Amino acid sequence: MKKVLLFASGTGSNVENIIQYFKNRHDIIVVGVFTNNPNAKVLEKAKIHNVPALIFNKEQLSEGFVLDKIVEFQPDLIVLAGFLWKMPEEIVAAYPKKIINIHPALLPKYGGKGMYGMKVHQTVLDNREKETGITIHYVNEHYDEGEFIFQQKVNIEDCASADEIACKIHELEHEHFPEVIERLLEG
Ligand code: GAR
Repeated sequence: MKKVLLFASGTGSNVENIIQYFKNRHDIIVVGVFTNNPNAKVLEKAKIHNVPALIFNKEQLSEGFVLDKIVEFQPDLIVLAGFLWKMPEEIVAAYPKKIINIHPALLPKYGGKGMYGMKVHQTVLDNREKETGITIHYVNEHYDEGEFIFQQKVNIEDCASADEIACKIHELEHEHFPEVIERLLEG
């Protein structure tokens, strides 16, 4: 049985989609949802699906508490699904090639510190890009700079707002993220 541990900070549509994808599977299980945000909607989603959740603060992330908790869960893969804080080097070093992130743009464009969620889509819109997409990559000690695992483009010439772009991106994420996780765990 391969174990997946999810990190998220917000709504958690990806978290819910991943939990549902692996529900009733005997080979892959989502063992927990970790969040830095006590008000995150993702907590309700974890509860509905009976997945244990952990809330932590900045000090707990940087001073070893979160790493100790990760170790307890013994994950085969740690998945950042809308997680907005930087992973401390200590955690990245403890799980080489075992932490992946999804970014809502075609990295290396529209990545780096401060580039997350709607800010990405608004900037893409402002720059009149014809296409955008998603990038799934390994996490290293720099924001959005680890080795790419998967990218998928989408045409956005018909999008008039950042919300419409976000919608297209979420569709892509929901379609591909669980399959990429599955492939990594089976490969
Ligand atoms: C997703 O679009 C994800 O790619 C993005 O946050 C959103 C979370 O949505 N992540 C980043 O911007 C990380 N830099 P969700 O909470 O509905 O899954």
